[in-house]
Amino acid sequence: MVYKKIERNSPCWCGSGKKYKFCHSDFDQKLFRFELQGYEIPGHELIKTPKDVEGIRKSAVINVAVLDEIGEKICAGMNTQEIDDIVAETTRKMGGIPADLNYQGFPKSVCTSINNEVCHGIPSKDIILREGDIINVDCSTILDGYFSDSSRMYCIGEVTPEKKRLVDVTKECVEVGLKAVKPWTPIGDMGNAVHEHAVKNGYSVVREIGGHGCGKAFHEEPWVGYLPEPGTGMLMVPGMVFTIEPMVNMGKPDIFTDDKNGWTVYTEDGLPSAQWEIEVLVTEDGAEVLSW
Ligand code: MF3
Ligand code: CO
Repeated sequence: MVYKKIERNSPCWCGSGKKYKFCHSDFDQKLFRFELQGYEIPGHELIKTPKDVEGIRKSAVINVAVLDEIGEKICAGMNTQEIDDIVAETTRKMGGIPADLNYQGFPKSVCTSINNEVCHGIPSKDIILREGDIINVDCSTILDGYFSDSSRMYCIGEVTPEKKRLVDVTKECVEVGLKAVKPWTPIGDMGNAVHEHAVKNGYSVVREIGGHGCGKAFHEEPWVGYLPEPGTGMLMVPGMVFTIEPMVNMGKPDIFTDDKNGWTVYTEDGLPSAQWEIEVLVTEDGAEVLSW
């Protein structure tokens, strides 16, 4: 990253209206020192202003409400098109737009991924939830141009203890990741913590699909992976917003994509996969969850 030298008395790049020397000048100096040490640092466009954070927060209120609503209604016998309908209706009633719809050609308003489906399951009236299924509902909202993105697992009726443990440990993985979000440390440390927790419990983590910066666009930098590679990746810096969304497999980490619909990702070994997703803001002393 190359920073154009900013005149100390000119307005700060963040739009605060303050002079640069009284605003982000020290912040930039700190970033620059990390860059000299070899860290990958975020560009200014990844640093959210208080106004941006407010916008994402409001978008997330809808996202969370939609997932709550799904939690109230989801049950055996329901088809996944009905989940899509609830997402579309609830989002629009609250003034938002489902971000998934037409995203790179995705045909529905939400992703619904059941059992051995890792992600990007396409809702359909022909897919019926059965007792014992575990399902990820991955919901994303746009409000006034701001994006929120989070997902939850739902257990349909009684599920086997093995599946329940996968769902619970995957949630713990996200919590472990959240605790590892510390400003001025590389994001690979966070990903490594997630990976360790999954592996410690006998699971594997999907390598090819990760989290992402989010807020002013659906998918921004940085890439948020969960490889055992501490010390790597972009530096986490106050004002950055990204998702933590590991896909944890009961068996092997290998996956493949449906060649008929071009979207749905499955585990290669056919064993179940789980995912929880949160969107977090890096703060001065840790992280704040914006959408869960
Ligand atoms: N919500 C997913 C994510 O967490 C993205 C889904 S893209 C879609 O990043 F097109 F499949 F909807
Ligand atoms: Co996401």
